[in-house]
Amino acid sequence: MTTSQNSSSPWVLAERAALMNPSVIREILKVTERPGIISFAGGLPSPKTFPVAEFAAACAKVLRDDASAALQYAASEGLGSLREMVAQMLPWNVDPAQVLITTGSQQGLDLVGKILIDKDSRVLVETPTYLGALQAFAPMQPKIQGVTCDDSGVDVAALRETVRTESARFLYVLPNFQNPTGRTMPESSRARLSQAAGELGLPLLEDNPYGDLWFDAPPPLPLTARNPEGCIYLGSFSKVLAPGLRLGFVVAPKAIYAKLLQAKQAADLHTPGFNQRVVVEVMRDGFLQRHVPTIRALYKSQRDAMLEAMKQHMPAGVEWNTPSGGMFLWVRLPQGMSAVELLPKAVDKGVAFVPGAAFYADHADARTLRLSFVTASVEQIHAGIEALAKTISENLEFLGSAPKFAEPSARPQGVALCAAAKLGSDPDNSASELGPQLDS
Ligand SMILES: Cc1ncc(COP(=O)(O)O)c(C=O)c1O
Repeated sequence: MTTSQNSSSPWVLAERAALMNPSVIREILKVTERPGIISFAGGLPSPKTFPVAEFAAACAKVLRDDASAALQYAASEGLGSLREMVAQMLPWNVDPAQVLITTGSQQGLDLVGKILIDKDSRVLVETPTYLGALQAFAPMQPKIQGVTCDDSGVDVAALRETVRTESARFLYVLPNFQNPTGRTMPESSRARLSQAAGELGLPLLEDNPYGDLWFDAPPPLPLTARNPEGCIYLGSFSKVLAPGLRLGFVVAPKAIYAKLLQAKQAADLHTPGFNQRVVVEVMRDGFLQRHVPTIRALYKSQRDAMLEAMKQHMPAGVEWNTPSGGMFLWVRLPQGMSAVELLPKAVDKGVAFVPGAAFYADHADARTLRLSFVTASVEQIHAGIEALAKTISENLEFLGSAPKFAEPSARPQGVALCAAAKLGSDPDNSASELGPQLDS
């Protein structure tokens, strides 16, 4: 390592470190820790859903019966019994040998990035997409491009056009109750995307942490189930058991499994064996089949409360979608408003959200914002949405603009502004002026 001549610090940061930015969500979460703030910002599962008694019994059993193995170093692939359980849970024929247990699915994103992305190689993402994936890929210095999406997810015709001129290492896609928009790809879109990806030779990285959290009907089959050799699948125990376990998994084709495993070894040797054993104990005898419906029922009631409060309080010109599962509602403010500018005013009134601009790889829509409906109680949801609506109304008065939704203008070529259900698009209202704190 060389030292800087002009600086008093001996530390010289790697180029890639400059590409690592603080998560805007974590920064906002710090503000929301202030007492009295109702936060719709974090994507935190409701602690009411954590099966504490089952964990207590499982921890005791693992320590009683299996302590020396549970507390020892272990295989990088993960615990055999957990890999088998994962393979059996999935709705296509999965060989447990293709399952890699990871330290959260976030680690899956990091490992996939490490083995598939070169500097300046092209990576495609939905518009908008999961901020944590943008953060995980950024240090590998790819050219990340958002593909055009609508309320059914990826616009396959636009994708074909995008890939026609230049190939990409993969397309990162969240077909179920997407973070941040809450949208779900219907069967017809999945079939089209799967076929197009096969024809184009475009690998898919499918991320599915929310798929079990459906409210009315299960979502269609994952993309990976249609073409396991052309897809990497990421799953997580964070939303169905507890995120503090840091347990997720990757299902990878044979062609790349060994490389992923090497990346995993280099990263952390293995995911904690104790946690893996505890989860195997908890999941024995079909626990998830009994437990997950209770999460669905709770989150559905919270979604309904938020939709009801939005209908009751929001001024004209604010638009939002109706997610059929997951944890998030996607909102678009009236013409002329910026979610980033609105946030401090909302916090002053005791409510927080995440400005949508954080979730765009490029050409952000400054009018969008994400609301999580799962962490706050129904009473807090009503109070928080009322406060947010008041902030928006006051801001509209301040702007002096009629609270009327503008006609969507033409989209620039190859750029994607996702319109979640009921949402229009306004590429002119881009967030390029948002400032560095929102770039990720
Ligand atoms: C889309 C998506 N992928 C991955 C993750 C990471 O989840 P975990 O590492 O807890 O499994 C999250 C977390 O919220 C997410 O929303």
